[in-house]
Amino acid sequence: MIPVLPIAALDDGEMTRVTANGVDVMVCQVQGQFYALADRCSHARQALSNGKLSGFEVRCPLHGARFDVRTGACKSPPATFPVKAFPVTLEGGKVCIAVSADDKPPPPRFGPI
Ligand code: FES
Repeated sequence: MIPVLPIAALDDGEMTRVTANGVDVMVCQVQGQFYALADRCSHARQALSNGKLSGFEVRCPLHGARFDVRTGACKSPPATFPVKAFPVTLEGGKVCIAVSADDKPPPPRFGPI
């Protein structure tokens, strides 16, 4: 597990971008739990951390696809594929995520725009 930011750095309902092992990750806190997703929309590579967090869903800033922050599941088009969700633990006052250099997202698989 890699410590990526202090727990206190993120309020409930907020998200941010971190980089761990060369992989960009969106970290958010929702209802007291922390979640981490690959910070790259599966549609056309937009950074999800620049989108809008609403409950357990993050909305891509470019075309509006929505993803469940708990699982990475795609919830609405134009994206059709999930994004990777990373395990999160809280250790020593830090948010820690399990991410390796092999977790870089694959190239985008364009659906209809
Ligand atoms: S880049 Fe995210 S929906 Fe198109």
